[in-house]
Amino acid sequence: MPKLNENYRKLKDSYLFAEIAHRTAAYMEKHSDQSLIRLGIGDVTRPLCHCAVQALHEGADEMGRAETFKGYGPEQGYEETRRAIADYYKKNGVELNLADIFISDGAKSDTGNITELFGKGNVILIPDPVYPVYVDSNIMCGNEVTYISGNAENDFLPLPNENQHADIIYICSPNNPTGACYNREQLKIWVDYARRHEAVILFDAAYEAFISDPSLPRSIYEIEGAKQCAIEFCSLSKTAGFTGTRCGYTIVPEELVFPDSTGEEMSLNAMWNRRQSTKYNGTSYIVQKAAAAVFSEEGQKECEENLSYYKKNAKVIADTLRDLHIPFYGGIHSPYIWFECPRGMDSWECFDYLLQEIQVVGTPGAGFGENGRNYFRLTSFGTYEKTVEAMNRFRSLFA
Ligand SMILES: Cc1ncc(COP(=O)(O)O)c(C=O)c1O
Repeated sequence: MPKLNENYRKLKDSYLFAEIAHRTAAYMEKHSDQSLIRLGIGDVTRPLCHCAVQALHEGADEMGRAETFKGYGPEQGYEETRRAIADYYKKNGVELNLADIFISDGAKSDTGNITELFGKGNVILIPDPVYPVYVDSNIMCGNEVTYISGNAENDFLPLPNENQHADIIYICSPNNPTGACYNREQLKIWVDYARRHEAVILFDAAYEAFISDPSLPRSIYEIEGAKQCAIEFCSLSKTAGFTGTRCGYTIVPEELVFPDSTGEEMSLNAMWNRRQSTKYNGTSYIVQKAAAAVFSEEGQKECEENLSYYKKNAKVIADTLRDLHIPFYGGIHSPYIWFECPRGMDSWECFDYLLQEIQVVGTPGAGFGENGRNYFRLTSFGTYEKTVEAMNRFRSLFA
């Protein structure tokens, strides 16, 4: 009989999206004549850009010819794609070696799998609220988590407390679900703290492409000293509409080394390389070709058009909430708008109220942590027309 990983028992039921679907379906069954607007999903709706589609076609054709067919590729990713990513970072003044870059099938897998590099007994600091994968992947391997509170007082951008030691720190900026984005000074505080405490920062930059203010860091490596203390995860999902195509990348700088229990140095880059070579056979050639096309000048221009579309939606939502005096965060450097539930409701009450009164579906903040219980997340990934209509309904409800 196998001994089971009973840590799975400690996971809270992942009922958030199932419960949203259930409540929505139950309501619509009784009110099938009403038009529902979904602003809850974290999935994109704009199609892939032309450059990516063309590269996918070309890649498929190459695979269909004996002379250009490709079998297993390098586990770390093809050089062309890694070079495209290195060039992208260079634009923000960050120099990466190709060996620092690992192409993946998305940031979810890597942010979940990274726990394998660390032993037991670490103090693991995770913001609340945040993308739930960090907490759940640690619980799955039996780790305990220490939460750091994101709240209205710190604009959902918690900073370290010098008296609280940490070994591993998760940061998500721009943040899912709050849309809050650390500035350079704040990120420097985290990097300096990590260096003093000999901690590692696991920096999730999945939404970096939404940052429109050039003074805000898109990568943690824009902060001096970060290569000695941080791993960065990124994704083409939201940047380039790859949620279904699947491609991301993780940067593990060669400079990132820590002593083992005997004091001998271990390289996290070498460990991740070993982990990936053992358990991952690489992202498909066709997808990597499309990813490289996304980073071309033309690809970037095309992606920017889609990002502008979402940003325009975000502005419609933000302008409406501002007019209605509903406090909110995000919506500028992020596709997410995180607002305080009006009229003293908690987040599930707010969900039911919006569903029943104006047939708008969003995501209750409670799904992202304790601190989300009085907040609500809307996304800008819907169509412009539906977003405008939803906000007109908000205006009539909360005026
Ligand atoms: C903060 C954050 N990181 C990572 C991911 C996962 O991205 P991917 O589609 O690349 O797996 C998401 C997806 O919603 C996210 O919100």
